Amino acid sequence: MQGMLEGKVAVITGAGSGVGRAAVKIWTEHGAKVIAADINLPSAEESVQLAGAQQGQAKAVECNVADPDSVIAAIAAAVETFGRLDVIYNNAGITINPEPGKGMLRLVDAPLDQMKRVEDVNINGVIFGCQAAIRQFEAQGSAGAIVNTASVAGLMGYGGVLYGATKGAVVNLTRTLAIELANQGIRVNSVCPAGMLTHYAGLDPDSPQKDQILEGMAKAHPLGRAIDPGDTATAAMFLASDMASNITGVNLPVDGGLTAGRKIGG
Ligand SMILES: NC(=O)c1ccc[n+]([C@@H]2O[C@H](COP(=O)([O-])OP(=O)(O)OC[C@H]3O[C@@H](n4cnc5c(N)ncnc54)[C@H](O)[C@@H]3O)[C@@H](O)[C@H]2O)c1
Repeated sequence: MQGMLEGKVAVITGAGSGVGRAAVKIWTEHGAKVIAADINLPSAEESVQLAGAQQGQAKAVECNVADPDSVIAAIAAAVETFGRLDVIYNNAGITINPEPGKGMLRLVDAPLDQMKRVEDVNINGVIFGCQAAIRQFEAQGSAGAIVNTASVAGLMGYGGVLYGATKGAVVNLTRTLAIELANQGIRVNSVCPAGMLTHYAGLDPDSPQKDQILEGMAKAHPLGRAIDPGDTATAAMFLASDMASNITGVNLPVDGGLTAGRKIGG
C-alpha cells in the first residue's frame, strides 16, 4: 500500500513524547520524511529510534517552539536534510501542572510565570510554527499543509481555564489562517483530542495505575475507549495528507464522541 504521506517532508514539534512520538512513528511508516523537533533533544532522538524508520528518514532536532529563531532553525533543518517542507505539525503544548492531590489549579491561583509560559508555548509556539512554515512554502513556490494540535478544551469548557483559553486561540487561529491562505492552496487544520495518558500535565503513562486511569478515561467517552496518542497522530496524518486536499479550516475532535453531545434517557 502506498503510504498516506509518501514523499512528504514534515516537521513535527513536541516529537519527544505522547502524540508527537506516535506521529514520528506513524507518519514515517506512511512514507514521510520527518524532522522530530522537541525542546528535549534526547527524547526526540529516542522517538526517532523507536520509530525504527528507514535510515535517514527521520532526524531529531532541539527546538523550543516559544522561540521564533529556534522554530526557523527546525524548518531550515528540514530543507537542509530533505530538500523542502510540505507539512508542519504544530503539536508541542503544555499546561500548568496540577498540584498533587489538588487537581487542576483554579485560574485565580495560577502563578504568573507559568501562565506566561503556557501562553508562549501553546499560542505563540503555534504562531511561530505557522509563520516559519508559510515563509518556506512561499520560498518554494508550493502549497503545503499546517496541522495544529488544539484540544477539546478549545471547543468546550474542559479542564484548566487558561489551558482552554490557549487552545481556543489555536482553534480560531486555525480557521482564520485557513481563510487567509486558501488562495495559496495552503491548508490549515487542527486535531482536538480529549484526555490522553501521556506525560502531559505531569501524568505518567507508565504509572502502575495505568489500567485504572485508562478505564476512568474510557468512561468519559460515548465510544467507551480512552483516546490513544496514536488516534490523534493518525487523524493529524489524514489532515496533513493529500486525501484531505479539499479540507481546510477544520478543527477535528478526536474524542470518542465527547463533544457530540449527551445521551438523554436510556
Ligand atoms: N494528553 C492530553 O490529555 C491532551 C489532551 C488534549 C490535547 N493535548 C495536546 O496534545 C499535544 C501533545 O501533548 P502530549 O499529550 O503528547 O504531551 P507530552 O507532555 O507527552 O508531550 C509534549 C512534548 O512537547 C515537548 N515540549 C514542551 N514544551 C516545548 C517547547 N517549548 N518546544 C518544543 N517542544 C516542547 C515536550 O518536551 C514533550 O516531548 C499538546 O499540544 C497538548 O496540549 C493533550
